[in-house]
Amino acid sequence: VAPLKVGIAGLGTVGAEVVRLIEAQARVLAGRSGRGIRVVAVTARSKAKKRGIDLRGVEWVRDPMALATHPDVDCFVELMGGAGDPALSTVEAALNAGKSVVTANKALLAKHGLKLAKAAEKHGGALNYEAAVGAAIPVIKTLREGLAGTGINRVYGILNGTCNYILTRMEQEGLSFAECLADAQRLGYAEANPSFDVDGHDTAQKLAILASLAFGTKVAQSAVYVEGISSIAPEDLRAAADLGYRVKLLGVAVRTAKGIEQRVHPTMVPKSSSIAQVMGVTNAVTIDGEGIPPITLVGPGAGGAATASAVVADIADVARGIRANPFGRPISQLRDTKKAPMERH
Ligand code: NDP
Ligand code: HSE
Repeated sequence: VAPLKVGIAGLGTVGAEVVRLIEAQARVLAGRSGRGIRVVAVTARSKAKKRGIDLRGVEWVRDPMALATHPDVDCFVELMGGAGDPALSTVEAALNAGKSVVTANKALLAKHGLKLAKAAEKHGGALNYEAAVGAAIPVIKTLREGLAGTGINRVYGILNGTCNYILTRMEQEGLSFAECLADAQRLGYAEANPSFDVDGHDTAQKLAILASLAFGTKVAQSAVYVEGISSIAPEDLRAAADLGYRVKLLGVAVRTAKGIEQRVHPTMVPKSSSIAQVMGVTNAVTIDGEGIPPITLVGPGAGGAATASAVVADIADVARGIRANPFGRPISQLRDTKKAPMERH
């Protein structure tokens, strides 16, 4: 069988790690996929930048659009980021050309997911995005496949590694918000614009995606109430600790009689609770399904290696010919998001 030919747009924290992992795991991937996976072409802003990856024999394409529509590329991997162009136009073009797409871009999916899923449905390519929520944690597959037959009442958790890392270090080491954020950026956890992390928008984008999968609604970031952590100081965390609490940035999507309530805000959680034990860059997602006890998935929520793990798994699914409905159901079956009024909690 011919190998799957992959084109990667974006060779930053995640993209470079994806190139490395495909190379390092080539034999395992070929065994599991029944065919080889070969990176044939790449692009980024700078060709000259040192990235510590071996790109010998890989074509450098200057323009992301030329890569997305490259006749030799079967699977376009978008790791540039951002909800606008070139991410949007290239993903759309690849799907319209009948190619499969793998992306980690939650901003893009939360804003344009429906349109992109329609293009995938129409032209038959896969649109895989496991890395977009919880990095290495297989939460998309869990909701979309693992719990396909279970009604979901609530999904909630810690969905942003940068914020949890900042809150952990502020609490444990008494460091300032700015110092912790700078470290999160250095470690490759933060978004290119870190206000997406600390102002709660990244969590809201991820929550909107999870809510769509959980409740069969059209993904709608605008339906999420958002509050971030940028005004939290070490003394706030100390005051919470004195009362027996820890502060966590939570995303919560819950089915109510009035619709789906989706909210993101800092929350005081009892120190003895399991969610309070989730520290550092770790994420945790709890799913309350009908008739079964809650399921909690915990794991690394950001960083190059953790994110590449899920991206490569998605590429392997494309190689194996597995194609899921991007949001778990045919587009025609997704309902409009009925936004519930915020209740006081
Ligand atoms: P980086 O900023 O590290 O990398 C972005 C890459 O895209 C760079 O190689 C950059 O080129 C390239 N790029 C940016 N704009 C363009 C453009 N206009 N044309 C061509 N290339 C471009 O980001 P990350 O790797 O951290 O993130 C990538 C995606 O993965 C984002 O959607 C992010 O939200 C998502 N993600 C990231 C996680 C993480 O922990 N970092 C976790 C989960 C998801 P150059 O290097 O030349 O500047
Ligand atoms: N900036 C994101 C975070 C990356 O810190 O969680 C993972 O999606």
